[in-house]
Amino acid sequence: MKHTDIKEILVNSEKYYDKNLTVCGWIRTIRVSKNVCFIEVNDGTSLRNMQIIIDRDTFKDLANIEKQSVGASLKINGKCVKSFAEKQAVELSASDIEVLGESPADYPLQKKKHSLEYLRTIAHLRARTNTFNAMFRLRAELAQAIHHFFSGRGFTYAHTPILTSSDCEGAGEAFRVTTLNPEQFTGKKSIEEFYKDDFFGCKAGLTVSGQLEGEAMATALGKIYTFGPTFRAENSNTARHAAEFWQIEPEVSFADLYDIIDLARDMIKYLIKDILDNCPEEITFFENFYEPGLKQKLNNIVIQDFEVLEYTKAIELLKASKVVFNYPVEWGCDLQTEHERHITEQIFKKPVFIVNYPKEIKSFYMKQNPDGKTVAATDLLVPGIGEIIGGSQREDSYDKLVARINELHMNMKDYWWYVELRKYGTVPHGGFGLGFERLMMYITGIGNIRDTIPFPRTTGSLQF
Ligand code: 4AD
Ligand code: MG
Repeated sequence: MKHTDIKEILVNSEKYYDKNLTVCGWIRTIRVSKNVCFIEVNDGTSLRNMQIIIDRDTFKDLANIEKQSVGASLKINGKCVKSFAEKQAVELSASDIEVLGESPADYPLQKKKHSLEYLRTIAHLRARTNTFNAMFRLRAELAQAIHHFFSGRGFTYAHTPILTSSDCEGAGEAFRVTTLNPEQFTGKKSIEEFYKDDFFGCKAGLTVSGQLEGEAMATALGKIYTFGPTFRAENSNTARHAAEFWQIEPEVSFADLYDIIDLARDMIKYLIKDILDNCPEEITFFENFYEPGLKQKLNNIVIQDFEVLEYTKAIELLKASKVVFNYPVEWGCDLQTEHERHITEQIFKKPVFIVNYPKEIKSFYMKQNPDGKTVAATDLLVPGIGEIIGGSQREDSYDKLVARINELHMNMKDYWWYVELRKYGTVPHGGFGLGFERLMMYITGIGNIRDTIPFPRTTGSLQF
């Protein structure tokens, strides 16, 4: 259907003065006055609408157009004219209008403002609101920027599998994948026998992280990154956990923990600068409606240093703060969101990399430090959210890795290939995982992860 995008017309309006154009879109408002009918349409290319003017004295088929309401889809032919109104440079003086699809009175988006909670119940329509229009355009820009950042630095984009037999984080949060019916379990002697009859002949699940396969790729290609969906059956019904979320996971050979921190910081700054440059309309929208001061916050990230703080020091600071936390703080405890937010929001007021966590609270693959107590791990904490990145240098000693897997009673059958990466030409290497939706929350100021992904999957919710 030949037509011109509204964004193109509004951005380059001078080019279109007095030209005949075709515009398509959905009605946002329709208003009939004595001599003219005004319709604002939006086609999803911009937050801004195109104003359509209908001269009631001369327009044919007026009755059919004037009975249309919010949500109906139109194709409009007309002449692009200078606008006298302040909010737009041009408008379209319609010569004829085709109604592509009517929108009956029960269209749920009649009202100007709905709560985000309500909009989640109509996820199939919510992208037609300004908030989600802006959110999903920004999401697409951010995804492109991620590819630009890594390809600009010579990283190879690696596709790691979604179906897998290993649980990277070892936290037992992997979704099972099976083609068997639970009834078929009856009479089987063991779980292993049950899975022998299954599609893959073994236990299978959805990946929680592409890291392990990413390491295999990085120890051949040098520098790789993955960018894909990951899945976790965490039963945490919070504003920052989703069962399906996207992760960006670079993995770098010949690198230590501090190389990984440099990469993560450079990436965050690059991505935020890209969004400031390329999505100014969207950022202004989020600043106006969701987080006052958002632009300033993002600008600061681009120029500010990030703090690097030892876990041990973080515990000391939390204890010295005298704040009464729900979860008490002791060396060895995992940092809860309340602790993370206190560190990044109250103490440093900027992003903080915590480094060298106790090995007991971190994953099996992390490089053991010489102190015997900690691992070369890092989390990046940001104000308002807490952790958005988790990463580490990896254990590159074959013996130490095997010992750790055994110590944790993990099944070596699942990890034989992973330890072989240390048997053949092992190298110091590391990487991190950035939660894409958590970064979206940070950049837009939206408080719930469910509003950063088109069709969120969370505990007890899989409607669409
Ligand atoms: O800290 P995590 O669990 O680290 C890993 O998965 C490593 N294998 C990454 C690596 O080193 N390659 O997860 C990484 C990030 C978290 O910091 C968080 O931003 C995000 O993934 N994340 C989630 N985001 C939304 N919903 C969830 N349930 C998430 N779990 C983790
Ligand atoms: Mg983590």
